[in-house]
Amino acid sequence: MPAIAPGSATAEAHPNIALVKYWGKRDEALNLPCVGSLSITLDRIRTRTQVTFVAGAGADGVQLNGKTSESARVGAGLDLLRARAGVDWRAEVVSDNNFPTAAGLASSASGFAALMLAGAQALGLALPPGELSALARRCSGSAARSIFGGFVEWARGECADGRDSIAHPLLDRAEWPLAVAIAVTSVAAKSVSSTVGMRRTAATSPFQGAWVATQEADLAAARAAVAAHDFARLAEVSEHSCLKMHALALAARPGLIYWNGATVACMHRVRELRGQGMPVFFTVDAGPQVKAVCLPEALPAVAAALREVPGVLEVIECGLGAGAHLVAGPHA
Ligand code: PMV
Repeated sequence: MPAIAPGSATAEAHPNIALVKYWGKRDEALNLPCVGSLSITLDRIRTRTQVTFVAGAGADGVQLNGKTSESARVGAGLDLLRARAGVDWRAEVVSDNNFPTAAGLASSASGFAALMLAGAQALGLALPPGELSALARRCSGSAARSIFGGFVEWARGECADGRDSIAHPLLDRAEWPLAVAIAVTSVAAKSVSSTVGMRRTAATSPFQGAWVATQEADLAAARAAVAAHDFARLAEVSEHSCLKMHALALAARPGLIYWNGATVACMHRVRELRGQGMPVFFTVDAGPQVKAVCLPEALPAVAAALREVPGVLEVIECGLGAGAHLVAGPHA
């Protein structure tokens, strides 16, 4: 039952990291991807968001990490919820991240997953997780995956209205508890947003067709590796997907170079460690941070090795996390 009076709710969500990457939209308005993707949701780093609806129409107010922030994308996301509930109340949104915002750490994924869950709850909308995933996708594609914990797949879908382009959990984090060391090599906001980068890539990269044509095989290999808890197989397909996505974007005009020198140095270091028998692989998104995915027993050594790489500012150690969830708010 939708709320009859404005309410308030607080939710937390974690960033996720794609092992088989999403890059390219077949519909920009609905954020429908050209390809499916497969991710892991992290623990420790999180967005916490309180949404409070206030009776009366007007502008939404957004505070991010204690500062008044641009609200157009947040407002557009809340409009989807307001339309469902049949209200025109405005909202006060207070959100904070305990990690660098907009630097390739998927703050938009955790941010919009938390926003949609808190907003739906504050309006009394009891939405199943699949519907929340579709709504989060409308705000930022990868947010569809942060609704769920552990290993997650976001289906490309076939429907023009996007109703089948939603994420679903593949494997609980307790079933195969991987760990991730995130080497932060820059805290500057990225120069080209993923939306602009994807648009440029699809329009100009000669590899776009091959990217789309080969994704299904990568997804099948990654799904099988996850089901079998086969680390070596997951490592091979994940590094391949990451490097293929970057090769695709590097070949756009002008080419998209999301890496810096330390990014490349970390990738080499991870391969050296694996050559020495350590169960670890890298993945890199549309930014300069390197995420080294490993078995939990290797985490201390992987994190220590990455801290030694010149240009690494910080290494954040995570495990696999839960999906978006409600918490006692606002900043309890
Ligand atoms: O959700 P967006 O628009 O921020 O795009 C995310 C794209 C990548 O992080 C590079 C890949 C992915 O699958 O998360």
